[in-house]
Amino acid sequence: MFGELLALGKLRSPEKGKEYADIITREAERLTHLIDNVLDFSRIERGKAAYDAKMSDLAEVVARAVDLFRHRIEREGVTLKTILDDHLPETLLDENGMTLVLFNLLDNAVKYGGEHAEITVRLQSGPGVLRLSVTDNGPGIQRDEQRRIFERFYRTRAARGKHARGSGIGLSLVKHIAEAHGGRVTVDSEPGRGRHLHGDHTGARRRPG
Ligand SMILES: Nc1ncnc2c1ncn2[C@@H]1O[C@H](COP(=O)(O)OP(=O)(O)O)[C@@H](O)[C@H]1O
Ligand SMILES: [Mg+2]
Repeated sequence: MFGELLALGKLRSPEKGKEYADIITREAERLTHLIDNVLDFSRIERGKAAYDAKMSDLAEVVARAVDLFRHRIEREGVTLKTILDDHLPETLLDENGMTLVLFNLLDNAVKYGGEHAEITVRLQSGPGVLRLSVTDNGPGIQRDEQRRIFERFYRTRAARGKHARGSGIGLSLVKHIAEAHGGRVTVDSEPGRGRHLHGDHTGARRRPG
């Protein structure tokens, strides 16, 4: 529709032209992203995802993914902190897969973390495990919905209402990739713990949601 309006030259002002062009660009980006996700997903589901596992440094993969995400962070006015344990052992992993995991989790943190969200990416090592977490201090996820968010196409009631953008595929991809690495994915959220639900800025509540 906006493309047609532009082509017809029926613009009330030059600003309108720019506005339409911006909408077209944004929507094209969104569709590209969606298509990429669907393609990755169908490949992975058919077991055709050529997981290319090799010994790598997950901290480096995380740092690179976060860097690629940085322009989005700046644009959205959220803050991002990265905490990486020192001297993490190398592990067998698929770098593209892990990058996709991070993109999806970061995208969710920005999308659902609310205005001025504070996002933390943390990578810790324990005996025989590496633990990667992405935390935001937004409204969180209701208890009864937590076990469903990793299901294909599932979106919470809050997300369906407020954020039209999204297909509910991201987290099922994340789960699939985590399991393909011999790991698992979990959610830890207490609605109201973040500061955005009640707009409560007292220290007590300013913990990650
Ligand atoms: N950081 C978050 N805070 C609150 N809700 C979240 C968060 N991340 C995911 N969700 C919920 O989980 C649902 C599934 O996530 P995902 O599969 O990535 O789908 P979407 O296409 O909506 O991003 C989202 O629709 C949203 O309801
Ligand atoms: Mg998502």
